[in-house]
Amino acid sequence: MISDKIRDILNEQINKEFYSAYLYLSMSAYFSEIGLYGFSHWAKVQSKEEIEHGMILFEYILGRKSQVHFAQISTPKFEMNSPLEVFEQIYNHERSITEAIDCVAHMTEGECDLATRNFIDWYLEEQIEEEDVVSRIISKLKTFGGEKSALYLIDRELATRESST
Ligand code: FEO
Repeated sequence: MISDKIRDILNEQINKEFYSAYLYLSMSAYFSEIGLYGFSHWAKVQSKEEIEHGMILFEYILGRKSQVHFAQISTPKFEMNSPLEVFEQIYNHERSITEAIDCVAHMTEGECDLATRNFIDWYLEEQIEEEDVVSRIISKLKTFGGEKSALYLIDRELATRESST
């Protein structure tokens, strides 16, 4: 069993993960509309990963004999100015998710819930990886993205992303 405080913050995290899935899927649609099909594919794969992140939390809460509570998922919002600006918004979004996961970890320590503290370690590692991957794409876009031929090559590279689900 987990405490009510831990149950509530894990449920909030499910909502954030599903919101992330919505956000990436809407970005995937935007990239497809402007002909960047590799970017679109990358964002679609990321959307599926976010659903998986939400589902791992879902199973964990049920496995600890606690309750899942779904809340409304907000409409995804982002500025559709350029691939670089979209990825900068992705980076900021992932930073906010990292902060949320940090808060979960902090709360588990306050509640002396070492099992959930251990469980949440995977998310902390995942956030480090996600921020790193996104910041590398931003660096490439800043360095080469002004050239259409380079943007085309980055698009082809992102098209090779494999789905982990
Ligand atoms: Fe599930 Fe992108 O963090």
